Amino acid sequence: MKKQLFTYGVLFLLAISMAGAQKKQDSSGLKAHLTINADQGQYQISKNIYGQFSEHLGNCIYGGIWVGENSPIPNTNGYRNDVLQALKKIHVPILRWPGGCFADEYHWMDGIGPRDKRPKMVNTNWGGVVEDNSFGTHEFLNFCELIGAEPYLSGNVGSGTVEELAKWVEYINSDGDSPMANLRRKNGREKPWGVKYLGVGNESWGCGGNMAPEYYADLFRRYSTYCRNYGDHGLFRIASGASDYDYNWTDVLMKKVGNRMNAISLHYYTCKGWSGSKGSATKFTNDEYLWTMSKCMEIEDVVKKHMAIMDKYDPRKEIGLLVDEWGTWWDVEPGTNPGFLYQQNTLRDAFVAGITLNIFNSHCDRIKMANIAQVVNVLQSIILTKNEKMVLTPTYHVFDLYQVHQDATLLPSKLEAPVLKAEEKDIPELSASASKDKNGAIHISLVNIDPTNPVELTCDLQGKKATTVTGKIITASGLSVYNTFENPNAIQPAEFKGAKIGKEGLIVKLPAKSIVVLEIK
Ligand code: AHR
Repeated sequence: MKKQLFTYGVLFLLAISMAGAQKKQDSSGLKAHLTINADQGQYQISKNIYGQFSEHLGNCIYGGIWVGENSPIPNTNGYRNDVLQALKKIHVPILRWPGGCFADEYHWMDGIGPRDKRPKMVNTNWGGVVEDNSFGTHEFLNFCELIGAEPYLSGNVGSGTVEELAKWVEYINSDGDSPMANLRRKNGREKPWGVKYLGVGNESWGCGGNMAPEYYADLFRRYSTYCRNYGDHGLFRIASGASDYDYNWTDVLMKKVGNRMNAISLHYYTCKGWSGSKGSATKFTNDEYLWTMSKCMEIEDVVKKHMAIMDKYDPRKEIGLLVDEWGTWWDVEPGTNPGFLYQQNTLRDAFVAGITLNIFNSHCDRIKMANIAQVVNVLQSIILTKNEKMVLTPTYHVFDLYQVHQDATLLPSKLEAPVLKAEEKDIPELSASASKDKNGAIHISLVNIDPTNPVELTCDLQGKKATTVTGKIITASGLSVYNTFENPNAIQPAEFKGAKIGKEGLIVKLPAKSIVVLEIK
């Protein structure tokens, strides 16, 4: 692949200049340069950017999180122990539930009370399987408490009533002598959970009701009026936002709803389209690999365009943009139920995660949450399970290494890196993000997507006298390597020894196809 210099700022001070472009490769290989303003930084990277999404879809909930108290699979109150521990380890800050498309067909009252008395329903969105409602409000909110995550509920607007949603909020958050609070107590929960994040519908332009933005805007105003704040439990009301390039949806909502919403969502999948094959998760050509990288990087342009519209109506950035569904979407694994969206996860997916999270960090002045789809066994999962076995995917390891950015201060930076020639355009080889944590440690997350060439990165840490550097790396022998139940550690983080602090500053020898996270003190 041909290289030429490409000045690419994936971070806050983005600056692209192709002027005077030249090949930056000498006998010692490819070079790149990163400037970090370590003594600056205005915005906090919300830990909620590292959020997850769980839906009643395939084996996400049933089998993935919930096995029930009587299962032979080791569990705590019905939640599988291995998954629980894995989620705790990466400090999942927030978990969205019960959908997705499922949310707009979900009637929460079917999921409370004795489990053997709960009515069943057919999950029409996902495989037409019977949903027995054994995992409901209590099971979800108690799970969030166990893993230390904030819950984010998606309310049913598509097929549910205003009264139903209002009562759900009362059931969950009221501490008074109110009918729904008393029903909750009768079902075994004395104190309210104090849920903050409430989505008012999901994909209301599609599976959530096929609405026009003007109509949905009015519905948002109506539904959110009756979702009350109880005691200290003020709601953070989230409007169902656009898909990908639907800028008109964002514009109409900003105009007609404005600051009645605390945030608006956005869904963006790295996906080849909605009809026909989406490509295999594990078998892909070099061109397909480059297409994937390019499509995932395109999210930066998409969020910028949505944010520009938001800036027009809300220059003080009081309304958040939440990318509450994102990630790769491939064909299901051969032999699995097409409605269950079960896919494998390779080093390529890890790159999509690493690059996308770097982009979200860089726009943390507006992006206040993101939820990768989905946490277990669905789409770009961080965890896969099969009966009693569990495997952590390469994407899990990215979330593990990147957790250092949670609630840290974004450091402005500028990256100059070579490019790879893809079919339609050049794509930068490197992606980077830097932050400073509350103890003053600096973390830099770097992705080198070049399949064959290492890159030497010189790093100018302005305003910081670095004394030590340590690091971790995720890489593999090939881009399509993945973890299986038989070989669960084909990809896992290892110590990284390729960074040195010398007279010229910090120099990082980034191996080909790798993700590196450095800690600098
Ligand atoms: O994540 C799978 C589905 O993708 C969700 O249910 C829906 O919101 C989106 O279309």
